Amino acid sequence: MAQSSPILLIGATGMLGRAFVPLLRERGELLTPRRDAIDLTSPSSIRAAVRSMRPAVIINCAAWTDVDGAEANEAAATVVNADSVRELALAASDTGAPLLTFGTDYVFSGVATSPYRADEPRAPLNAYGRSKARGEEHLESTRDCQWLHIRTSWLYAPWGKNFVRTIAGLLRTKPSISVVHDQRGRPTSSEHLAQTSLALLDKGATGHWHATDGGECTWFEFAQEIGRLTGAPGLVNPCTSEQFPRPAKRPAYSVLDLSRTEAMIGAREDWKTNLARVASRLEA
Ligand SMILES: NC(=O)c1ccc[n+]([C@@H]2O[C@H](COP(=O)([O-])OP(=O)(O)OC[C@H]3O[C@@H](n4cnc5c(N)ncnc54)[C@H](OP(=O)(O)O)[C@@H]3O)[C@@H](O)[C@H]2O)c1
Repeated sequence: MAQSSPILLIGATGMLGRAFVPLLRERGELLTPRRDAIDLTSPSSIRAAVRSMRPAVIINCAAWTDVDGAEANEAAATVVNADSVRELALAASDTGAPLLTFGTDYVFSGVATSPYRADEPRAPLNAYGRSKARGEEHLESTRDCQWLHIRTSWLYAPWGKNFVRTIAGLLRTKPSISVVHDQRGRPTSSEHLAQTSLALLDKGATGHWHATDGGECTWFEFAQEIGRLTGAPGLVNPCTSEQFPRPAKRPAYSVLDLSRTEAMIGAREDWKTNLARVASRLEA
């Protein structure tokens, strides 16, 4: 990977995509096409676009990520999260370029009480999870494609739309907020995920893998730590998912097992350590 270029990064404007850009620029020529060059709502155009770019590696950070919006638009979410992944895998087969693409903890039902291994059966609770699960099935049925699919969870960064920036803003302006305390998972720094993903790619990992920060917490505990680190004056109170209804159902427990990832590239840093690195430089 270190010598392979050009690298094609799809979704470079997104939260995770932005984290990849500086790391990939160090590795050689980087292509970051915008939507008008590669539009995932038009999967049939993807192969021709990728073929003309002749990438040595394809990294796909683009996706339909509006979890609640997917409930009323499942077909459209499935085109972006599944049909386009199938086309990217076919384009990767055509060009011989390895494909790195991302998945979600929401492909699991959330009824487990210990971390989900990468090979456990999928049972998504919501439309977004179903669309991503369909994309996983397409990868599994693509021949001659060297794909690395990394499931992650609760992503945040100093930029983009994410829980950390939202909560930090609310705690600056409101005396108190309520945050659900009955959903458990693993926060993940996008910058940490980009580094972890490249380490797995460099080691030649293929198939389904998990990459998150270490440790686990509820959204309430995550919000409390954001308040502590940013020094924002608002209070965080716990509530239940029933008290905070959303269009899409969320899994109660979505901790992803990291043991195989950590055996290959070493222990992942704890979420609190990574959050502290990001909390001091949140974009306004
Ligand atoms: N965010 C999370 O908490 C989370 C959790 C688990 C897994 N993931 C997965 O992690 C990956 C990265 O997520 P993220 O949060 O970084 O995403 P994001 O910030 O929402 O960015 C999405 C990216 O996809 C691009 N995009 C969307 N629709 C497109 C289309 N039709 N054609 C071309 N590009 C399109 C966007 O481009 P524009 O700038 O043009 O809109 C943007 O660059 C995704 O696979 C996501 O499913 C995310």
